[in-house]
Amino acid sequence: MKFSSAIAALAATGSLVSALIPIEVKGSRFVRPAIDANDEGDEFTVIGIDYQPGGSASYSDSSGTDVLSDGDVCLRDAFVLQQLGVNTIRVYTINPWINHDECMSIFNAVGIYVILDVNSPLAGESLSRTDPGSSYNKGYLNRVFGVIDAFKGYPNLLGFFSGNEVVNDAASAAVVPKYIRAVQRDMKQYIAKHANRTIPVGYSAADDDVLREAMWMYLQCGDDESKSDFYGLNSYQWCTGDNWQTSGYNTLESTFDGTSIPVFLSEYGCNKVSPRTFPEVYQGIYGPLNQVFSGGLVYEYSQETSNYGLVNIQDDGSIKLLTDFDNLQKAYNKISLNQTSAGQIKAVTPATCNANSLEKVSSSFETTMDLPGCPAKSMLTNGGGNNNVGKIVKVTNTTSKYKIYNSSGKQIVDTSIEIDKDNEVNSPSGNNINTQSASPSSASSSTSTHKSKGSAVNVNASGFLAGLAAFLAMLI
Ligand SMILES: *[C@@H]1O[C@H](CO)[C@@H](O)[C@H](O)[C@H]1NC(C)=O
Ligand SMILES: *[C@@H]1O[C@H](CO)[C@@H](O)[C@H](O)[C@H]1NC(C)=O
Ligand SMILES: *[C@@H]1O[C@H](CO)[C@@H](O)[C@H](O)[C@H]1NC(C)=O
Ligand SMILES: *[C@@H]1O[C@H](CO)[C@@H](O)[C@H](O)[C@H]1NC(C)=O
Ligand SMILES: *[C@@H]1O[C@H](CO)[C@@H](O)[C@H](O)[C@H]1NC(C)=O
Repeated sequence: MKFSSAIAALAATGSLVSALIPIEVKGSRFVRPAIDANDEGDEFTVIGIDYQPGGSASYSDSSGTDVLSDGDVCLRDAFVLQQLGVNTIRVYTINPWINHDECMSIFNAVGIYVILDVNSPLAGESLSRTDPGSSYNKGYLNRVFGVIDAFKGYPNLLGFFSGNEVVNDAASAAVVPKYIRAVQRDMKQYIAKHANRTIPVGYSAADDDVLREAMWMYLQCGDDESKSDFYGLNSYQWCTGDNWQTSGYNTLESTFDGTSIPVFLSEYGCNKVSPRTFPEVYQGIYGPLNQVFSGGLVYEYSQETSNYGLVNIQDDGSIKLLTDFDNLQKAYNKISLNQTSAGQIKAVTPATCNANSLEKVSSSFETTMDLPGCPAKSMLTNGGGNNNVGKIVKVTNTTSKYKIYNSSGKQIVDTSIEIDKDNEVNSPSGNNINTQSASPSSASSSTSTHKSKGSAVNVNASGFLAGLAAFLAMLI
């Protein structure tokens, strides 16, 4: 990112305080631009978690709430996630007509980006696997465009998923693909016309060796207008006890080697063995797989009926960390990433579409690039009519009203989030959350624990000051 656009992105937040700069795509990698004029920025690796408290079934349009609408909930979870060390959350369903400023600003303040699905499980709010043509209509696109409007103003919005596992068997592979590209085309056109910056648009594929390879070949190739800007794979193939070979991560790496767009795991975390110890984190995803992949999102934050949770949300809104949380935090602390500067990221030749080689991977796959026309052309031009455009607001309250307990059941006394410096991204801390505090004033009923926040990555104070000075000079 050039200096001027980096500053514009910051200025667009309406404040120079605690803002992340939007992530960009360069070749097969994500880039986190620097504030400094002379610095090209660094490669960005997703250290993330799937975030859907309440589960996928809990969403309703009429409740007037979603997982990013309650500031106290987000303050509570931002504290937990800041301690865990993640830099990204994936959110599956939001209501585009309600306000998300407080939550998005809280996550922004703690250095966490958001990847957002534009769909919902409700009827008419996603593409149909069996009859995509009839579901690709004005009402559906009104929701999709509404989500873009609601979130385009947040600098910590990393990107949008156009779809999640829409292709999941041979039958859907035969009819759905061109509709995914059509939706991506519409989204990218809408963003170009109605947003102030480029926002990456990608897809999240089902855990199926053949279909995810075919879908990646189909979505990464050809014209920029409708191709994916990034590709997420849902993969539960490395279970505790597995290694690089038995998990099939070796094949994963060789299959996607040479990708022309960033690829990452949009869901991972096999739970066949409990508690999970997450060896795939330091032996796989942030180890050798990082040669090709740009990180991953672990499934998932809260304990739901499917039993993948890292924390338990109790009826009174308090949080109890689970053993999986402690284990993931320990696993993250073993990561040592070798991030290159953006200038060193190799240029990649865009992939050309090859129907024959795609059909060799999956014979049932629809390979046409003859896409259906947009059924909502005037909305595309004139806007979808969602005036609920989000913006970053100042975070003044740093402590949630909800209590947080560690996995031994001890209450954590100081649960206030730490507001990061400008463009400082959250990262694994290398420290344990439960370091005993020597504070004599703490109540004896609850053991005093204090937090030790993740250390900053890639913060260059002199570069920041130079950028700030140049920005101020521009104002005069
Ligand atoms: C702010 O802080 C108070 C406690 O000081 C709390 O009761 C309130 O709900 C907090 N949350 C938000 C989102 O303002
Ligand atoms: C985009 O920029 C224009 C002009 O500076 C501004 O009026 C508008 O509010 C911005 N929109 C967003 C979503 O930031
Ligand atoms: C880090 O990456 C650079 C450039 O790709 C490479 O030369 C170097 O060997 C890597 N270092 C480690 C410790 O992996
Ligand atoms: C929970 O906190 C208590 C008090 O600080 C500490 O003794 C205990 O080891 C912590 N439990 C875990 C699992 O970290
Ligand atoms: C920080 O940035 C400045 C300006 O770009 C550069 O000259 C300096 O070498 C950087 N320092 C470090 C420690 O990276």
